Amino acid sequence: MKLKFSLLTALSAALLAAGCSTSPRSSQYDPETEKKIENLLGQMTLEEKIGQTNQLSCYFVPEEMAQVLRSGAVGSVLNALTPEVANQLQRYAVEESRLGIPIIISRDVIHGYKTVFPIPLGQAATFDPELVEQGARAAAVEATAAGIRWTFSPMLDIARDPRWGRIAEGSGEDPYLTTVMGAAMTRGYQGNGIGDPTCMAACAKHFVGYGAAEGGRDYNSTNIPERLLRNVYLPPFEESVRNCGAMTVMTSFNDNDGVPSTANSWLLKQVLRDEWGFDGMVVTDWNSAGELIAHGFAADEADAARLSLTAGVDMDMMSHTYFNHIADLIRDGKVSEKQLDDAVRNILRLKFRLGLFDNPYVDPELSTRVNYCEEHLAAARRCALESAVLLQNENRVLPFDPSKIKRLLVTGPLADAPYEQMGTWTFDGEASHTVTPLAALRETYGDRIQIDYEPVLAYSRDTATPAELAALTARAARADAVLVVVGEEAILSGEAHCLGDLNLQGSQRELMAAARRSGKPVATIIMAGRPLTIAEDLKNTDALLYAFHPGTMGGPALVDLLFGVASPSGKTPVTFPMVVGQIPIHYNHNMTGRPAAGTETLLKDTPVGAGQTSLGCTSFLLDAGFHPLYPFGYGLSYTTFEYDEIALDKQEYAADDTIRVSFRLSNTGDRDATEVAQLYVRDLVGSISRPVKELKAFARIDLKAGESRRVEFELPVGQLAFWGLDMQKRVEPGAFQLWVAGDSNSGEPIPFNVK
Ligand code: BGC
Repeated sequence: MKLKFSLLTALSAALLAAGCSTSPRSSQYDPETEKKIENLLGQMTLEEKIGQTNQLSCYFVPEEMAQVLRSGAVGSVLNALTPEVANQLQRYAVEESRLGIPIIISRDVIHGYKTVFPIPLGQAATFDPELVEQGARAAAVEATAAGIRWTFSPMLDIARDPRWGRIAEGSGEDPYLTTVMGAAMTRGYQGNGIGDPTCMAACAKHFVGYGAAEGGRDYNSTNIPERLLRNVYLPPFEESVRNCGAMTVMTSFNDNDGVPSTANSWLLKQVLRDEWGFDGMVVTDWNSAGELIAHGFAADEADAARLSLTAGVDMDMMSHTYFNHIADLIRDGKVSEKQLDDAVRNILRLKFRLGLFDNPYVDPELSTRVNYCEEHLAAARRCALESAVLLQNENRVLPFDPSKIKRLLVTGPLADAPYEQMGTWTFDGEASHTVTPLAALRETYGDRIQIDYEPVLAYSRDTATPAELAALTARAARADAVLVVVGEEAILSGEAHCLGDLNLQGSQRELMAAARRSGKPVATIIMAGRPLTIAEDLKNTDALLYAFHPGTMGGPALVDLLFGVASPSGKTPVTFPMVVGQIPIHYNHNMTGRPAAGTETLLKDTPVGAGQTSLGCTSFLLDAGFHPLYPFGYGLSYTTFEYDEIALDKQEYAADDTIRVSFRLSNTGDRDATEVAQLYVRDLVGSISRPVKELKAFARIDLKAGESRRVEFELPVGQLAFWGLDMQKRVEPGAFQLWVAGDSNSGEPIPFNVK
């Protein structure tokens, strides 16, 4: 049964690779719907059409929104907070406006609605798309019960720079992992699609390149050439839109090579509509049409509206430029009414597809039945459990043996911080429903173990005096083991929360050192929105579990891992740098002309007066080498795994073949556990220089202690295609290498050819 599951995972990777996902596409053309759209459009005044393109935030009490809704001046409302408010707003639009066009209520439901799942970066660490899909489904069921039919998720931005706070909101640095996770979320949100009342339209964002913000500073410019855009940044969007039917797309804030996405007609027309066949709706990011002025791309608001509409943006989020200027622009012949009509068609199509015309209201009782229901809490707990990455476990300190620990000292600002552990973009999850590690420890082991709690620091940036730290050491010395929970408050990552220093904030490093001085076994949990630079902190702990921000059920999940009810199985979805100066650092960098070989002389060994070329003329940093702290795909377990007998079914493949890679995976330790097996490929010679390795498939495989199993990956050769020198996407024949391993830095290459 388990084998079947693992193989299915591999198979779904193969299906995805082949671009033949089974989920519904939004572009299923329905002539009946198109007729209804034309019929309605024919009855609309210019003002009503413009109203549809206008998205407003529900700042006001619903009564104050009445007038704008009755006049048809709004097509979508963000942030209506309860089912009652959603129904009331909808009534103004449906029952009291001239044409009765429903609004679409939207919200940032990013990693759960009430039941909060780990932040998306944590979800990516599970390498478990089925579970991620379940999480998105749970979010959709809860959010649609509150009248929310459109979420601004998944965020599909590739992020190679952890200074960028929004790295928390995506799936990390890898295009394939981001593609798989984005597809899972899209499917989960949209459920059975058209006609399903729990279908919440997904929004593939931020289109595109936003994660490459220069210097890791949010909203900053990006400079991604078209080939890199197509090979790295666009694929997750293409999959979500083309094969999973994402109903909407959001333009990003950044300009790329000088062109802000919100006015990029090449991107929105040629790529999205013409190449990918998208017939859904495009929305701006918050005021990003208005910000064309600040970009120095539009002269004024009217110009901004003109540029966005003509580039292919259908709906304006909160800049009011469409509402205020489109009528004049049409009158002055600067945009055509046809351009407006096309935008309105896309908006109405979304509303028809969501069934809003037939069923605009929600049952206000439904929320009480679905929010925090057992099924959702169980999935959130499983997701938190699978997302934690064990980075260190010296002396096999973990798992704790409850029969040997009489007294456990728990310390650190995140041990009992329910709000913080939900992480960024948590608008609706409640601290009162969130279970912290401390609460879960007391609940599960409180009758057997004396749980001594002294946070020392009230929050992650807090500082402690030497006396307070000394007192902690003394207290720890009286315990049998110490659990330290440190990291980042929720507000330190996410939008506009970028950092130049990625060390633990405040006195957290000193706190870890104080715990260490007790001489007792120390296990540390880090909850954070990004990979932090923790090289120094590893010295102050035996074990380290990296939990990202684990959400509502983080506490019980982590306690299960601490006590060995389950073994950690998460893997790093992003490279962990040693120091900030190594950033950007990602495993799938191109082959350079002078790759570092490990023989370089570092600063500490550099003699005074060393000759110009004596240190090694390769690609490394004198003071930080070239190795990251942890590579992509890395994570330990309470057991050990061995890969052997890795074999390909052939030596040479045709372009339409499927590569079958079989291997034996053995659990060589004494605990049942799950391994994330990963398949990487290198294209040795191309028309352009290619990445040193690229993830192409992965599978979670459960193995009993001592069990061995043969596993097979299927990789369609077509998945080796890339956009080459001539800007065509194809597989270039020649020599390749392939690895099957437990992370991106392990294993031996196996050669094969494509003819
Ligand atoms: C963010 C988007 C978000 C939008 C609506 C913007 O500031 O960039 O990701 O969906 O606000 O809240």
